[in-house]
Amino acid sequence: MTLIDGKAISDQIKQEIAAEVAEIVAHGGKRPHLAAILVGHDGGSETYVANKVKACEVCGFKSTLIRFEDNVTEEELLAKVQELNEDDDVDGFIVQLPLPDHISQQKVIEAIDYRKDVDGFHPINVGRMGIGLPCYVSATPNGILELLKRYNIETQGKKCVVLGRSNIVGKPMAILMMQKTYPGDSTVTICHSHTKNIKEECLEADIIIVAMGKPNFLTADMVKDDAVVIDVGTTRVPDATRKSGFKLTGDVKFDEVAPKCSYITPVPGGVGPMTIVSLMKNTLLAGKKAIYK
Ligand code: GUN
Repeated sequence: MTLIDGKAISDQIKQEIAAEVAEIVAHGGKRPHLAAILVGHDGGSETYVANKVKACEVCGFKSTLIRFEDNVTEEELLAKVQELNEDDDVDGFIVQLPLPDHISQQKVIEAIDYRKDVDGFHPINVGRMGIGLPCYVSATPNGILELLKRYNIETQGKKCVVLGRSNIVGKPMAILMMQKTYPGDSTVTICHSHTKNIKEECLEADIIIVAMGKPNFLTADMVKDDAVVIDVGTTRVPDATRKSGFKLTGDVKFDEVAPKCSYITPVPGGVGPMTIVSLMKNTLLAGKKAIYK
């Protein structure tokens, strides 16, 4: 069994990005600039955004954090999105999700100029990804592809089961795994809350990507020998023995599943750090105007 070290790979990629930024700046180019909008004080979102800002520093990017309280109106938020769309110094920006219920998430996503949508959530980027055109690919699926690539994991002709059908992980992941390229060329099945025979589907899979947000969902009896298991879950499960009061818990019952696998990602330290590094890669592309002018 090989443990996929997302932390080490992400550190390596950040160094690669930093070297490229140093080169750009040395030649008189502009330092890429990422802005992030954070609404409210959700613990998970605070941590994600803080880690994104920290990663920007490591990569040599400029970053701007814009905060709103929970009671911000949709109009105020949309006005800020418009301001960032028009700010020539900002190469790319994100609005951290989830948003409070009184704000339409979809409206906000669609208000972002797709040329600055480094999260890859805008329908233009999602659509272009679906038909294999250059675009910003959303961070978690792209991070997983990078891990498969860096570990030379075979995907062509493999049976890949994706558990979960969210717009930001499950759906794009399934599309990317079936694209005519590497990593890809897999035969993909998506399972979700209404799938009747999840265990049987999983038992046939060479690659299982779990993105359900259900702690310890995937158990050893659902995994065939030598499968590749990628765990996207990051649920905060209460744990009084920890200073933080919680334990970040994946969707895979790691201790019993790991011995059966050829490759597996841990939580934390697997997919999580790769998600942030994917955002950094998209920001570098935005800074270079490599996808859209
Ligand atoms: N919430 C959870 N994951 C993400 C992400 O990748 N981007 C944004 N903007 N919000 C998120």
